[in-house]
Amino acid sequence: MIEEDRRTFIKAVAAASLAGVAGGCATAPRARDRFDSIPRLTLTTLPTACKKMDNLTSTVGGPDLYIKRDDVMELAHGGNKTRKLEYALAQALDRGAKAVVTQGGLQSNHVRQTCSGAARVGLEAHVVLSNPVPEMKAELMGSGNYLMNQLMGAHIYFAEDQRGPVVEKVLSDLSAAGKSPYNIPAGASNGIGSLGYVNAARELIRQWDDMGIRPSHIFTATGSCGTQAGLLMGLRYFGNQETRVVGISVSGSRERVEERMRSVLDMISEEAGFARDLVPDDDILVHDEYIGTGYGRPTEAGIAAIRTVGEQEGIILDPVYTSKGMSAMLDLLRNRRLDGARDVVFLHTGGAPAIHPYAEHLRT
Ligand SMILES: Cc1ncc(COP(=O)(O)O)c(C=O)c1O
Repeated sequence: MIEEDRRTFIKAVAAASLAGVAGGCATAPRARDRFDSIPRLTLTTLPTACKKMDNLTSTVGGPDLYIKRDDVMELAHGGNKTRKLEYALAQALDRGAKAVVTQGGLQSNHVRQTCSGAARVGLEAHVVLSNPVPEMKAELMGSGNYLMNQLMGAHIYFAEDQRGPVVEKVLSDLSAAGKSPYNIPAGASNGIGSLGYVNAARELIRQWDDMGIRPSHIFTATGSCGTQAGLLMGLRYFGNQETRVVGISVSGSRERVEERMRSVLDMISEEAGFARDLVPDDDILVHDEYIGTGYGRPTEAGIAAIRTVGEQEGIILDPVYTSKGMSAMLDLLRNRRLDGARDVVFLHTGGAPAIHPYAEHLRT
């Protein structure tokens, strides 16, 4: 079947299935769902774009490569945390909070988006930061996400090593001041936050149907696991059993990340009332061979991926997450290690504000 016919066929099957005449298409989303009764704020305009990367597809020599632009959103440069905050901040407001508390590294994208979302809905943002790359302290505190937190009026606290005790102290001080603080864990990767990517999965299913593609794989950079877990659970819950969700770890070993993924999947099931066995263990795919020397430390292959995608597609990846994710996707494709690859999607989770503190690593 030629390409055009294949796409038309996929669209027709999906449409027929939605109308209930094709005996159930693997990618047909449920039109409305009890999932929709979970409170969610609108913090950005959805859906985000999903586009073919024509030039990169030609360079790699196929399969067709696509990019989902979750880096283009409305919370101060956007990124994957915006979707999570739509649920977390809805819960904070519901509980009568006057302040949110969260934590991360000095260049945390999650913290920057939390400060933006909090400002938008009228909550104080209290953020506890630690430094994952001590030798870069001056650069990490001079620009990028850290600077943006300051511009958005965040209350900033520092933790030497463990952030937990500082977070506890901030929470207790805010409680004593009558601010009913709402705590968002690192990366918002608890049950409620991860629902953002369950919602994203449904959005993708609809988008792929409209585009006439049925991706074999979607790649994402994985840290605290909420993005990958939400996406995986959302795809399976809304009827897509075929797209493999490949997580590229930016910090932990495969074993540790898989373990954490299972616990986030369980938290999502609990929060949304989904069956626990929706995602079997062998559906959790994680690679840990693209981390390099550690979290927050760019790799050569990652920097090369930033250049390739910048030069060929005009899209900026970040040095900590998406560059490692993209370098993994390109490596697996070039070395033919991706079984049944067809319509491969890269989830751009954002993070580009961090290119500024990492400028020295990125200059030629
Ligand atoms: C740009 C970017 N990509 C990917 C991730 C990883 O997402 P998660 O923590 O949900 O695994 C993060 C998390 O901080 C991020 O900032």
